[in-house]
Amino acid sequence: MKAIEVHGGGGLDKLALVERADPGEPGRGEIKVRIRASSLNYHDLMVVKGMIPTPGDRVPMSDGAGEVVAVGEGVTDFKVGDLAVSTFFPDWLDGEPPETSFNRVPGDGIDGYAREQVIMPATAFTQAPKGWSAAEAATITCAGVTAWRCLVADGHLKAGETVLVQGTGGVSIYALQIAKAFGCEVIATSSSDEKLERLKALGADHLINYKTTPGWGGKARELTNGRGVDHVVEIGGSGTMPQSITASRIGGHIGLIGVLAGYSGEIPTVAIMGKSIKLIGLTVGSRRHQQDMVRAIDVTGFRPVLDKHFPLAELGAAFAHQESGTHFGKIIVDI
Ligand SMILES: NC(=O)c1ccc[n+]([C@@H]2O[C@H](COP(=O)([O-])OP(=O)(O)OC[C@H]3O[C@@H](n4cnc5c(N)ncnc54)[C@H](OP(=O)(O)O)[C@@H]3O)[C@@H](O)[C@H]2O)c1
Repeated sequence: MKAIEVHGGGGLDKLALVERADPGEPGRGEIKVRIRASSLNYHDLMVVKGMIPTPGDRVPMSDGAGEVVAVGEGVTDFKVGDLAVSTFFPDWLDGEPPETSFNRVPGDGIDGYAREQVIMPATAFTQAPKGWSAAEAATITCAGVTAWRCLVADGHLKAGETVLVQGTGGVSIYALQIAKAFGCEVIATSSSDEKLERLKALGADHLINYKTTPGWGGKARELTNGRGVDHVVEIGGSGTMPQSITASRIGGHIGLIGVLAGYSGEIPTVAIMGKSIKLIGLTVGSRRHQQDMVRAIDVTGFRPVLDKHFPLAELGAAFAHQESGTHFGKIIVDI
């Protein structure tokens, strides 16, 4: 079978298309999946560029979706032909997060899904949303479940609330779609007016260009008649957090997810205390979160926003496209 490996300490020009042995037949509790698609996340970029060190033959990509081609003894969740989608933490099935470790995250601590076939415990996959393609399903594992956990599992999202989403990456667009599916108002930001128009078409109620309006937190407050937003899906980190706090209502919830605008900075302690902000850091989610999200998608029927598709052999070009920042939604690798 074909696979991509990260060679020579990483770098987009060090991704090698290789032949690997067929993984054989699944054992008890395992399934064999013919992976058909993966999708790109910032975490995968860090692996392939060597910013997260991995062994010299690591198969990258945390996200994988494809059809089940064989089922081991004792597996009841899947049958041959089902479209299955991988989970980010294969061992976190439910409940509180285990001590965060990437030791068993596919595409980081263990081989990921930039390959044609895998055998994994059945519990490392869930069913895909009904009627979705493999490319669509492959966007759930990291971006989708992160947005779901932030807003629904941790944020207890309710109809009528206001959600602020930042930029037009995978997590933020999922957050917008989840918020609209729940009957919420969405304030969306982007560096591009053209992308803002596309967010409007997806249902965003208010648009702010964060480049031309650097004080977008105050603008968001104004849009809520001074009350402030109920939830912020914080993908910028330290560089955007002060504006997110400004945007938040008293008792507002900020889910700290990403670090695109900085890894560290001053902590605005007084503002956090004064506004009783509920600030939570989170890393993707459990298999239960993914199953809950799939059920919600099956009922509400929204579809993910896919950007460009690349073949497996052009994974490096796919990451170069991600680095260009011109994408809108999820970049897909067809396998
Ligand atoms: N904690 C977790 O579990 C988890 C899970 C997934 C991702 N993440 C993290 O979340 C972040 C986003 O991930 P992603 O996969 O959605 O990335 P992505 O698809 O590559 O998103 C990139 C987009 O983010 C927007 N952006 C960049 N800097 C921004 C800023 N200063 N303010 C507002 N928006 C900004 C840009 O949107 P415009 O072009 O519209 O300006 C850019 O196109 C990354 O840091 C990633 O590591 C964390």
